[in-house]
Amino acid sequence: MKGDESDKKKQLDQVVNAVLKSPKYRNVCDDLIKNIGAQELSKQKNIKAAIKSTKNKLHQIAGAYFPKKPDYCLWLNKLRAAKKSRSEELFRKVCADIMLYHYSTRERLNILDEFYARIFSLLPAINSIVDVACGFHPLSIPWMHLPQRVRYYAYDVYKDMIRFLNEFMALNEVQGCAEVMDVVQKTPEISTELAFVLNTIPCFEQIEKSAGLKVLESINSNFLVVSFPAHTLGGREKDMRRHYEARFGELTEKKNWIIQRLEFKTELVFLITK
Ligand SMILES: C[S@@+](CC[C@H](N)C(=O)[O-])C[C@H]1O[C@@H](n2cnc3c(N)ncnc32)[C@H](O)[C@@H]1O
Repeated sequence: MKGDESDKKKQLDQVVNAVLKSPKYRNVCDDLIKNIGAQELSKQKNIKAAIKSTKNKLHQIAGAYFPKKPDYCLWLNKLRAAKKSRSEELFRKVCADIMLYHYSTRERLNILDEFYARIFSLLPAINSIVDVACGFHPLSIPWMHLPQRVRYYAYDVYKDMIRFLNEFMALNEVQGCAEVMDVVQKTPEISTELAFVLNTIPCFEQIEKSAGLKVLESINSNFLVVSFPAHTLGGREKDMRRHYEARFGELTEKKNWIIQRLEFKTELVFLITK
């Protein structure tokens, strides 16, 4: 669509407001909707089509990962009750049950012990972590066996998810915080020893082809755990490992980074040492 700057701003406001009216996207941060909305306005023939394609894109990169509408209030009550019971086993069970409600953590549920044992065996003691495009991954903290003083900073685009994760971290006595951030437009400035960039590069690259590498370069951490899913959301393998391994190779070929590769049943992991 064409128009002068003030027309374009009005059109973008219309797209953002329409998307925010939809119950599925009303908690998504405005920055992300604006970024995608502006791209779609420049590609589509009218505002209606731009609203539709913005929602489609948001579905692909974020909405599709929820099998059901999250019930954060209920989950917090369950977490609080489990904490009160002082049963570590019950607390983990509640975390695992909640992780079923985001496909990325659901996929990882059966390999949690092995996943962190193998990754952390390759690392020195870790005292600070960023988790970009985290989804429900911070709920796996009880499986990570981190030192008590660890600081954990998590980022995603859903305001309600981030409120929930802040409550979860307080309850779990984890220092740090969760924050709403479109990490394609702004990478966390905080410097930490480790960064998790799990299963999200394909989402970033759907927003902007160069975004995967940009995020990897700008994260302020010496160690980065970067992963790719081994299956599509529908469960098909479709040569995904080979495809993502090749893509990761392209992204990092000019970098002077040390890379270790770890293969899991549901995920292909690369540990980058910068
Ligand atoms: C495939 S899931 C991965 C979740 C988590 N890292 C894991 O592996 O369990 C992708 C996540 O990226 C988030 N996301 C997508 N685009 C984002 C962006 N521009 N900034 C921050 N988060 C984003 C989505 O909301 C979703 O939670």
